[in-house]
Amino acid sequence: MTRHHDVSPIVERIASLYKNRNIKILEIGCGDGINLVELNKLGFKELYAIDKDPEKIKIAKEKSPTTNFSTLNALDMDFEDDFFDVIFHSLVGIFMNSDEREKLTASIFKYLKPQGYYLFEEILRDDNKKEASLKVHPYTSSELDKLTNYFEEISRENAYRIVNGRKVDGGVIFIGKKRKICSKPFI
Ligand SMILES: C[S@@+](CC[C@H](N)C(=O)[O-])C[C@H]1O[C@@H](n2cnc3c(N)ncnc32)[C@H](O)[C@@H]1O
Repeated sequence: MTRHHDVSPIVERIASLYKNRNIKILEIGCGDGINLVELNKLGFKELYAIDKDPEKIKIAKEKSPTTNFSTLNALDMDFEDDFFDVIFHSLVGIFMNSDEREKLTASIFKYLKPQGYYLFEEILRDDNKKEASLKVHPYTSSELDKLTNYFEEISRENAYRIVNGRKVDGGVIFIGKKRKICSKPFI
């Protein structure tokens, strides 16, 4: 598959998880909408996306007119329970602190169908290095560990992205399948 370099590598993962292109997919923090354009090219039709920045939503709507967009903060989402087959975000959670991320994951868990997939591509903190920048909050290993109680068939891999022609290291791709039954709430 040829893909635009700035497209998140998790788009490919979604395409390989599902042959069925009629599944419902939500992107949180879609930015300019490049991931949605790519998903659309791959045949996915039921696309939903939110971003808190109305300017981004405007640009994304022009690029991907068939996607259902909302200008919305991820922490204020209000969808039906068990609605989406796939929920994903890429380079969005790093702009939240860990309490906000817990809230985000709890709502993703609620809106995802049992056995639906949660994918994200974010930056993972290197525990051996001091945090260089306070502008973003890299994920910690213990945060990822907590997800294992709620998602099964988990895979975690290191990743990098090409952003504006530059290779950005330190990425992590998380893929988890929502457990059918979970004994306790996420938070
Ligand atoms: C670095 S861009 C990533 C865009 C896109 N996901 C991608 O992979 O190219 C981060 C986007 O997340 C959005 N964002 C950050 N925090 C958000 C929040 N709490 N709720 C909704 N969108 C958020 C920003 O407005 C921005 O468009």
